[in-house]
Amino acid sequence: MDKILVTGGLGFIGSHTVVELQEAGYEVVIIDDLSNSSENVLDGINAITGKMPAFEKIDLKEKADVEAFFKKHSDVKGVIHFAASKAVGESVNEPLMYYENNIGTLVYLLKELKKLSEASFIFSSSCTVYGQADELPITENAPVKEAESPYGNTKQIGEEIIRDTCKVVPTLKAIALRYFNPVGSHESAEIGELPIGVPQNLVPFITQTAAGIREQLSVFGDDYPTPDGTCIRDYIHVVDLAKAHLVALERLLQNKNAANYETFNLGTGKGSSVLEVVQSFERVSNEKLNYKIVDRREGDVISAYADTAKAKEQLGWETKLDLDDAMRSAWKWEQKVRGV
Ligand code: WQD
Repeated sequence: MDKILVTGGLGFIGSHTVVELQEAGYEVVIIDDLSNSSENVLDGINAITGKMPAFEKIDLKEKADVEAFFKKHSDVKGVIHFAASKAVGESVNEPLMYYENNIGTLVYLLKELKKLSEASFIFSSSCTVYGQADELPITENAPVKEAESPYGNTKQIGEEIIRDTCKVVPTLKAIALRYFNPVGSHESAEIGELPIGVPQNLVPFITQTAAGIREQLSVFGDDYPTPDGTCIRDYIHVVDLAKAHLVALERLLQNKNAANYETFNLGTGKGSSVLEVVQSFERVSNEKLNYKIVDRREGDVISAYADTAKAKEQLGWETKLDLDDAMRSAWKWEQKVRGV
């Protein structure tokens, strides 16, 4: 079976995607710099699939190391590229770190793929490229808006770099997957989200509050023009998201792509408010969550959820798991990690 490189494969979405690739029979090689993950994740993947993926600790900023990797693995047929920094707030304070780590490394990677006889490339992008979309649900044709953060800008620039490269490198095919809000964990609780420090995202903050690690969840504003006043997002189960990466990769490996560069939104198509997420957690965990309403968070969009038609029609993919499934699995994972 084809050899697939997964960069950032020890991360949250990366590790769940490695599981799906292995279960589909692919040979997986992981590159990760361990800046936001741990080698223990390999054991979690192995516990699920019975196969220990090959792993090489490489910092993609080290151009010579990237070149050496591809000399050794010239038989790589596809790359799924997760490795990037992804904290919105941090990117505002450290823009150069984000442009170096998210853009510089992408250029080094693409330069190596150019040398291969053929290459299929899946890029981890984000609905953040749309900003506050004018129309909901959001289709792939929605205009890309000025990024709210350097992180979001690196996703926009990354897509443009890939698009422009695919235009002049006929052996390179690529798909950018624009994720909405990835949440939840594998049902086995062998892998999951491991935020370092205080979680920036809603769901890990909820589960850490319920586990007693955080005192109280702050709900950032309930005065938005939405049914219950809190922001609306499209929370997609990470296992559904991982499966979409397999489908997108096979679209390219099997030459079913309609163009050399394509984009797909990956979401459930359903918007859920912050309070609805809290209620879902309380329902599935039987825990009362300690939260308070505070001021709005700078940069939050009011509402974002996906139009899922293109992924359904062209990838034949749609989500199978819902918000309760995601919250149930996120809580099971938190309880296991904390031994509660
Ligand atoms: C969701 C909602 C918050 C925390 C970001 C990135 C996006 C992607 C996912 C990487 C918002 C509210 C949150 C809290 C809260 N990341 N909230 N209290 O901002 O939609 O998306 O993460 O790819 O690119 O932009 O996700 O989970 O931070 O927030 O009330 O403690 O929960 O205001 O309405 P977001 P989030």
